[in-house]
Amino acid sequence: MDARQMKIEAARAALAHVESGMRLGIGTGSTAEEFARLLAEKVSAGLSIQGVPTSERTAKLCNELGVPLKSLDELPELDLTIDGADEVDGALTLIKGGGGALLREKIVAASSARMIVIADQSKVVETLGAFPLPIEVNPFGLASTRILIDRAASRLGLSGSLNLRQSGGDTFVTDGGHFIIDASFGRIPDAEALSSELNSIPGVVEHGLFIHMATLAIIAGPAGARTLQANNT
Ligand code: A5P
Repeated sequence: MDARQMKIEAARAALAHVESGMRLGIGTGSTAEEFARLLAEKVSAGLSIQGVPTSERTAKLCNELGVPLKSLDELPELDLTIDGADEVDGALTLIKGGGGALLREKIVAASSARMIVIADQSKVVETLGAFPLPIEVNPFGLASTRILIDRAASRLGLSGSLNLRQSGGDTFVTDGGHFIIDASFGRIPDAEALSSELNSIPGVVEHGLFIHMATLAIIAGPAGARTLQANNT
C-alpha cells in the first residue's frame, strides 16, 4: 500500500463516524482532501451533512465536489471535525500547519464536540518536534516576534532555526493574512509549556501545537487502519 492509499484508508475509516444531520468540520491537507472526496461520494448517495471548511483550499475542493458548506458563523457549534496532522504523539497531541491552515483548523476544532485525526503511520511519533512547528505570526513587528520566540524557546531549553515560510519565491501568506515561522526545535518534550510561552507573545497569532483537542486518531499502515486513543499507542 502506498502513502496515498494509506491516507485513503484512514479517511474511509473516519467516514464511518459521520452520521446524517451532522455539522462537520472539514480539514486541510492531502489526507483531509481524500476524506472530502469520499464524503462527496456519500453526499451524492444521499448523506445529509453540513460542512465547515478549515481553509479556502478546502472550501474550493468541497465546492467542486458538491459537498454542502456553511461558514463557521452560520454553524458556530459543530459535532465533529476530521482533519490530518503533521505529527501525532501517544497523548494525541498534534503538530499541524504544514499546509498553512493551522489557525482556521484550530478555531474549527475548538468549535467541535469531537475531533478525529486521520493520518498514515509515518505521522506517529514518540516525541513531537522532528516536523518544524508552524507558528502563525502577524507581519507587523516580525523581527521582534522572532526574537521573542527564540527567547521563549531558550527558556525551555529549545533551540533551532526559525524560518519564515516561503512559497513560489514570496513570503507565504495564510488565509488570515499572516505569515508563518517554521521552528525547527528537533524535540518538544513539553508541548504545554511551549504552547503557553508562545501564546504569551503578542505577535504570535497561533501555533501548530494542538493539545487536548483530538479525541481519536485513525492511523493507516500497510495492514489497514487502527485507532489510537490518548496514551494508548
Ligand atoms: C494543514 O495546515 C495541516 O495542518 C495539515 O492538516 C497537515 O499538514 C497534514 O497534511 P497532510 O495530510 O497533507 O500530510
